[in-house]
Amino acid sequence: MTDILDAEAIAEGVLPSLRPQLRRVTVLAETDSTNAELARLKPAEQHAHAILAERQNRGRGRRERRWHSPAGGNIYFSLGWRFTVGDHPFSTLPLVVAIATANALKRTGLEGHGIKWPNDILVDGKKLAGILVELKSGVNHTSAVIGIGINVRMPKTAEENPQELIDRPWVDLESVLDAGRRSCDRNRLASSLLDQLLAALGRFENTGFESIQQSWKTYDLLEGSDITLQLDDGEIEGIAGGITGDGNLILHTAEGERRTFHAGEVRVYRGIRTY
Ligand code: BTN
Repeated sequence: MTDILDAEAIAEGVLPSLRPQLRRVTVLAETDSTNAELARLKPAEQHAHAILAERQNRGRGRRERRWHSPAGGNIYFSLGWRFTVGDHPFSTLPLVVAIATANALKRTGLEGHGIKWPNDILVDGKKLAGILVELKSGVNHTSAVIGIGINVRMPKTAEENPQELIDRPWVDLESVLDAGRRSCDRNRLASSLLDQLLAALGRFENTGFESIQQSWKTYDLLEGSDITLQLDDGEIEGIAGGITGDGNLILHTAEGERRTFHAGEVRVYRGIRTY
């Protein structure tokens, strides 16, 4: 199936009650990175502006990694957002975005996906979507560039063979929707992503993370399982105990300590070796 991303169709697909909050949708055939593209705009043009691209030639992942971004049917999406007032717990924003993304994926009919703290969307231990939130603080505001990459239909051509280019377990949406029997309309998925994000960002601005935290539990892949957390200077093992109100990971260690971490990478959970 070849579906082309269409800015008008995406904007029109957003729920009428949320559409006034969206300023603009732009679709590009190619860019270096939709996050970088948004960040280059004047601040006034970033807010509530969604940029999608068919292909990225320098797609960025977390921890300075590359995000493999071939043309052919994935989602590379960024939304600019300017938070003006309030004492928002920005450390939880990547988690809020992960929940919104998981909800949008659920609307496609996907089941069984979850979030590996802080914001990787996985199916059976394999990465389906990744999130890169980049923040900039000003005197009276904080601006966010919210980047989301979803593997929808990964091209399997020899020159862009993702098996060789992505060094970690991954999966695409179309191979898991009804065990590969159903395709995904990317424009509808992008509208749904906007529905979920606009609603979640509104709640986050008004009531912080608290009202959203409950949804974390429905997607948390780690709570109660043995995990190995990779830190800058080594690894630590323990049992994951959910998250704190400011989005930190709780870990119960073998020594009986309860520790919390604001950064780190979970390498192993339930015996599954992953990111
Ligand atoms: C991760 O490492 O898991 C985060 C991946 C984020 C990829 C998306 S694709 C759209 C946006 N533009 C980028 O360059 N990166 C993000």
